[in-house]
Amino acid sequence: MNTYHYVLYLHLLSLFVGIGAGSVLLACLLRLRAARTLEQAVPWGMMAGQVGKFFPVAILGLFGSGLYLTTEDTFPWSMGTGWVDVGIAALVLLFVQGGGIAERTGHKLGAALQANGPGPLGPEARRMALHPGLWVVEFSNLGVVFAVVWNMTEKPGLGGAIAAVLIGYAVGAALALLVTRAPQEELAPSGEPAG
Ligand code: HEM
Repeated sequence: MNTYHYVLYLHLLSLFVGIGAGSVLLACLLRLRAARTLEQAVPWGMMAGQVGKFFPVAILGLFGSGLYLTTEDTFPWSMGTGWVDVGIAALVLLFVQGGGIAERTGHKLGAALQANGPGPLGPEARRMALHPGLWVVEFSNLGVVFAVVWNMTEKPGLGGAIAAVLIGYAVGAALALLVTRAPQEELAPSGEPAG
């Protein structure tokens, strides 16, 4: 056991923080999807907002520890290695999607719930609970993370590493659209003008 292995352990702990937070967020989204009243939705919306604070910790942890693992000169990888560069690009993508798109959509969902008021959720609040800005980001981010885990363990060339991330993203996004499609169809008639 040497410093490299301690840092690798920190790298994995950071990953577990991210996966843990991502799993709780997924549970929150599933409960928001099922919610039919403000009272059912609010606790899960609040928890989703709180758990989001763990993602920067995971991203910074992965990046900092990954940088050490990359630049330590016992091993053949360096900052120019394809799967390392794809790992860095993936972290930027996770940050932009999570901290930008999902964060902003989450605030809009909060505003829609507030505007809805107590009692049954109207179409606008339900539509925001099914918004791709939450669901596609959550599932595609998870897909990208699983792809990067593949890259970090299998260490493919640059093309293989990019392909893995693209596949992870596409499978995640497709799953998100599948999971939200049925409730969205359910909503469609009530969105049409009456008469
Ligand atoms: C989503 C982001 C990331 C995930 C999910 C991830 C995951 C992992 C995993 C699971 C391992 C253990 C592989 C093994 O021991 O076989 C690992 C190792 C490693 N990671 Fe990452 N990582 C990420 C980001 C990064 C970044 C940004 C860098 C570089 C700046 C990096 C550099 C490394 C290096 C050099 C190793 C050591 C490989 C080895 O000793 O076999 N990682 N990573």
